[in-house]
Formats: sequence, C-alpha cells, structure tokens
Amino acid sequence: MHRLFFASALVALSAYGYETPTMGWSSWNTYRVNIDESLIKSQADAMVATGLKDCGYDHINIDDGWFGGRDENGRHTTNLKRFPNGLKPVVDYIHSKGLKAGAYSDAGENTCGWKWDNDELSYQVGFYDHDAADAKFFFTETGFDFIKVDFCGGLPYGNAKGEKMSERERYTAIRKAIDAEGFPNVRMNICRWAYPGTWASEAGFSWRVTPDIAEGWENVRNTLNEGLLLAPYAYGGHYNDLDMLEVGRGMTLEEDRTHFAMWCVLASPLLIGCDLTTIKPETLELLKNRELIAIDQDPLGLQAAIVRQYADDRYAFVKDLGKLGGTVRCLAFYSWSDEASEFEIAFDEVDLGGKVKVRELVEGVDLGTMEGKLSCKVPAHGTRVFRLEGEKRLERRRYPAHWAFLSGYQELDPDARTANYGLVKGNNGKYQYTARRVGGAEGDYLLWRDVLSEAGGEYVLKFDVFPCDGAGFDVEVNGENAGFASKACDFTLKARLKAGPNTIRLSNDAEKMCTICGVDLEPAAQQ
Ligand code: GAL
Repeated sequence: MHRLFFASALVALSAYGYETPTMGWSSWNTYRVNIDESLIKSQADAMVATGLKDCGYDHINIDDGWFGGRDENGRHTTNLKRFPNGLKPVVDYIHSKGLKAGAYSDAGENTCGWKWDNDELSYQVGFYDHDAADAKFFFTETGFDFIKVDFCGGLPYGNAKGEKMSERERYTAIRKAIDAEGFPNVRMNICRWAYPGTWASEAGFSWRVTPDIAEGWENVRNTLNEGLLLAPYAYGGHYNDLDMLEVGRGMTLEEDRTHFAMWCVLASPLLIGCDLTTIKPETLELLKNRELIAIDQDPLGLQAAIVRQYADDRYAFVKDLGKLGGTVRCLAFYSWSDEASEFEIAFDEVDLGGKVKVRELVEGVDLGTMEGKLSCKVPAHGTRVFRLEGEKRLERRRYPAHWAFLSGYQELDPDARTANYGLVKGNNGKYQYTARRVGGAEGDYLLWRDVLSEAGGEYVLKFDVFPCDGAGFDVEVNGENAGFASKACDFTLKARLKAGPNTIRLSNDAEKMCTICGVDLEPAAQQ
C-alpha cells in the first residue's frame, strides 16, 4: 500500500510557515455583556501573573457589551457605566502589559447583545454604513489589533430595514475598509456561527463554524463535532474557529482535556473563557500544556483530518507537524462515548514506517519506541494526542473525499444543495465520507492539496466514484490538464506527479459530477 518516502526528497517542502491561530482571553463566556474597564484590566494583569502570556496567550479580547450608541455625528461612544473613559485607556493598558487588544463589532446594525442580552445601547452600532469610519475608530484612533465581527445586525431582526444582508459582501467590504485604513495585518474573525463558504479565507483570519458554545460537556461535544470534517478549509494561515474555550467552567478534568486537546488538534483559535483571576491550578496546568499548544501553533497551520472512524463516537485524526511530508506527525484518538474504549491503529495507516517514537501529550508520557501499531485505552469523553516520530515516511496510496477542499462548500444555506460531504456506504460496502454535488458551475471544483509523491513520476490515478449518479470530470494535476475521467476510461487516468506536494483538481463546469469516494494512486511502473 505504501512506498518509502525519503526525507531527502522533501527539503523543498519546508517552506510553509504561517501565522498561527489566535491565542488569548475573551470576555464573553463568563461575563456576557457585563464587562467594564477594571474587569478587563484585571484579566490582562492575570494573563501575565499566571504565566499564560509566556505560553503564547497574547490577546485580551473585549467582546459585546462596550457600546454606548453612536453620537450625533455617527461616532462610536462607550457605555459610560462600564467604560467611562472610553476604550483607548483600556487598549493602552493591555498594550502596556505586552499584550494585544481585541475588539468586537457587528457586520450589520445591531449587535447580538442588543438582541439576546437586552443591551439597548448596542443599537445600530455595527459596521453597516460606517465601514471606513469604524475602521478608523477601531484601529487608527483606538489601537486595537484584532476584531471579531458578528452578524446579528445583518439578519432581518437586527437592522432597521429588516434586511438579510449578504455575508460575503459585508465581510469583504469590512476587510477592505480595514486594509484601506492601513491595517492589513489586523486579524478579523468572522462570527457567522457556521462555515460561511470558501470566500471567508479572503476576508477573515478565522471564522466561526458553530453556533455559540456553552458550558457543559454536551454543548462542548456538539460544538466540537461540527468541526471534525473541516480540515481542508483551514489552510494557508487561515483557521476554522470552534469558539471560545469553556475549559475551567464546570466540566470534569477529562472533558476539559478533550476540549482543549481537540481545539489544538483542529488548529482552532485558543481563547480562554474563564475568569483568569480565580483560575484553578488544574485548569491553569491544562491551558499551559506547551506540548498541546505546540500542536495548535504548528507553523504548517494544518487542522488534523479524520484518518479512521471506529464508530459514530470514536475517531482518529492525523496531521503533519513542522514539515509537510516529514516523519513527525500528530495522531489523536477522540472518543465522545460514555464508556472507556480501546483504540488501535497501524502506523502505516498514518504513513509512518519502521520504528516509531511515541509521546502522549495529554498526560505527558513517553511511550518509547514501537513498531507496527499503537493501541491505547481512552476513557469516556477522552482524548489522547500523540507526537509520532517515525523512521520513515510512507507514500500514501489513497486520498479520501473528505480530505478534499470543495470550492462550493458552505453551511449557511442548507437548501442550496451545494457541494458537501456525505457519509454513505461505498463500493467496498463500508461507510465512508464522499464528496457530493460538486460541479455544474464555473469555478465549482474539488481539490486535493498536498498529494505527496516521494520521487515524482508517472502515476495511475483511479477515481473511486459512484458512476451512475452523475457526470465525469476534468482532471488537472498541478494546474495541467490530465484528461477527462468518466465511465469510458473506468475513471482511470495517467498523470505525472512531481516530487513533493501536488494538487489534483476535479471539475465539470456544465454538470454535477458523480459522487466521489476518493482517489487511489499507484506509480505507473508498478502496474
Ligand atoms: C454571538 C457570538 C458570541 C458573542 C455574542 C455577543 O453571536 O457568537 O460569541 O460574541 O454574540 O453578543
């Protein structure tokens, strides 16, 4: 199934090195709109005093609740009970601690706090109709470094005209206004509570992919489960945001560990949501787990993808660390089962060969050097994360459909019948993820990135599809046409791959393509 993948061929792959997911603290989970100047300052103090800043938590984000309405010139004012001196002294204080300051606003008119927390002064304070002036206010005048932009005000209930605004238009316009004001490096978080579509990576540094998280295992688990299939969209230094952390807010230690560890495995922003001034030692210890933080902050900027689903409630994830196609990988076993369970995986399933050095990062234990496979007992609601260092990297023979980026994928409009992933019984009788409804429009494609070849050369590409439910498709390898795959050629083509990472792109501008289960790659010489 694999060929050896020699490290020497991969030197060219180490060019990746992206800005990593945002780390810090945000006021919302504990305080909702009940925030004020001294509270924010005391959290900044605690960030430093607890040593969290030294672990990389460098943002203090002021969420909803600071607004005081606009003055007669349309300028922002602050809620005078909460921020009597405006925001600038607070931002300056945060900066004086060597930290970055995060702001909150809305892409439309009224904020979510106006709608859901009776925060009356948050009326018509969003960016809508004020893009340039607000960009000036937040960044030039007040000095914020980051902004989370919500969307209640873009929905009919949140603006005077009762309009449903276009997310893409609003967030793109706000991004442009921030850039035009001279702040292209300001990170914008798109807060639209579901994966908004592939345009988001042009406007946002990160984007929320779930409804609001809340304390308690069920909420955290449901939130996490919505992010499991989104690995292809966290790419190039842009991230899926699973929402602010509920760590330290009432779950068991094992559940808190799963929450934190999986946010790291999935390369989500890490925004602490508990009160830092009263944080418990065991919470602090977990949030300061530098080995897990390193998984989140890995410079490749990858979100781990599902490599095996054992059951509905048990998954293994994998991603490269440090170097694409190298011998160091992260493997995670995640279980939301209410029972303890046994996990096992062969190292060649995660593309590693020979002897493998294994360290488990949640408990922080060296498991020594192993060969063949890894077995591990995972407690109920538990997660174990491994740093694997193999002797050899093996060349992967199959890229499954759910590892592919679908340009038309989005979760905002469930009726749009656009490209998506479906769990269906495949040709081999086993349930597997598929890519459905791709194509039928210009620019609607499926893309496997980072298809790794050790030495390059001619390969046979066999597409595993459901042939009867749609059309064939054009195949491009590294941007070059490699032919039309259809029933006529048994969905099999030959193409040349280069040594290192390749792209394989499938498209059919005229018709929806048949459902794709995956692609199998075989060096042509071995046929
Ligand atoms: C929600 C958002 C939360 C929080 C809140 C403020 O829409 O998802 O994270 O920011 O608004 O009102």
